[in-house]
Amino acid sequence: MILVTGGCGFIGSAFILDWFATTNEPLVNLDLLTYAGHPGNLSTLDGHAGYTFVPGDIGDTALVTALLRDHQPRAVIHFAAESHVDRSIAGPEAFIQTNVVGTTRLLQGALVHWRSLPAAEAEAFRFVNVSTDEVFGSLDRHDPPFTEHHPYQPNSPYSASKAAADHFARAWHHTFGLPVVTTNCSNNYGPRQFPEKLIPLMIHNAVSGKPLPVYGDGQQVRDWLHVSDHCSALRAVLARGRPGQTYNIGGRSERANLEVVRTVCGVLDAVRPRAAGPHAGLIRHVEDRLGHDRRYAIDDRKIAAELQWQPAVRFEDGIRDTVLWYLEHEDWVQSVTSGAYRRWVEQQYPGLHAAP
Ligand code: NAD
Ligand code: TYD
Repeated sequence: MILVTGGCGFIGSAFILDWFATTNEPLVNLDLLTYAGHPGNLSTLDGHAGYTFVPGDIGDTALVTALLRDHQPRAVIHFAAESHVDRSIAGPEAFIQTNVVGTTRLLQGALVHWRSLPAAEAEAFRFVNVSTDEVFGSLDRHDPPFTEHHPYQPNSPYSASKAAADHFARAWHHTFGLPVVTTNCSNNYGPRQFPEKLIPLMIHNAVSGKPLPVYGDGQQVRDWLHVSDHCSALRAVLARGRPGQTYNIGGRSERANLEVVRTVCGVLDAVRPRAAGPHAGLIRHVEDRLGHDRRYAIDDRKIAAELQWQPAVRFEDGIRDTVLWYLEHEDWVQSVTSGAYRRWVEQQYPGLHAAP
């Protein structure tokens, strides 16, 4: 039995679907169903005996304590977070609450649970803290990629909140011995990513004939990783990662934003040509993001050598599949962005989002 937090989001849902594709080990998913969480992402698991969904907040100590006591997981895989940089600039508070306070409470709950375990189970227990490469700050064009020893220099409220969580995770290992492993992963893409992030936003706008807003000069570089590769990396970390260690995860696919948007446009031109001309004609350079990091890049030699993990999906193949997925699931985009979905959550789980 493992406990996953934030399993109704983009990466968490991919992880859970992958999990049950490869094992029958039971899994509990604790998710607050914020705007980014959709139980429908996991509808294929309806009626699955091994899957339990629990709506709730990682910061709810009583709930977390009861869950850990009742289900006795051998591991926690912690995805739950506020995850969008632009939202963190517009309103940092939720990032502090969930990413910092929530993570710290979850660590404390896990510690109490871990201390109650018999020696062999305590030895095998893992808390996998899913983090981001953004905690390292920004690289210049010719800088070497981030290693695990790169200093933390978070620049956005989002990355600062994730960095704080990583520091607490580290401290819970160092001070209390909790077997924490932290992963710092690059930008993910793939099916079921909320259409506020670059790639799904561009697909959604392009098929609707809307402008494609590229921040600044569009030469900011990210290292893109298909979500299925992130999931396989996390399974390797869960199985073989050493407590107290951190592992960088990347896609070996550094691309400038403008190149990514043009790639998306090229796929759309091929599979759904636009009468008014190529989709790239919709690209508009708009005002840059405040404090915009110029480049992220990952040195993945540690995870490759120690855990024998490497990415399997070529960027061009992954992008093509992702565009096709969105074209085949326009109803998904419609449902996750509509007010009707928010109303359904309020009806289904009254009080879930009530202020404490
Ligand atoms: P997401 O925004 O798609 O999903 C987040 C999920 O967490 C949602 O289901 C949401 O309902 C849930 N959640 C939010 N607050 C919660 C709370 N207080 N209690 C319980 N559940 C809560 O995010 P994602 O893109 O799937 O990212 C998952 C994790 O991976 C995050 O920790 C993120 O920082 C990290 N990460 C993401 C990327 C990326 O490119 N998306 C890259 C590296 C690391
Ligand atoms: P995003 O998907 O928000 O991920 P992150 O900020 O965590 O890297 O953005 C990826 C890159 O794309 C980032 O450099 C900002 C840029 N971007 C745009 O140019 N336009 C957009 O509309 C969005 C959402 C992002």
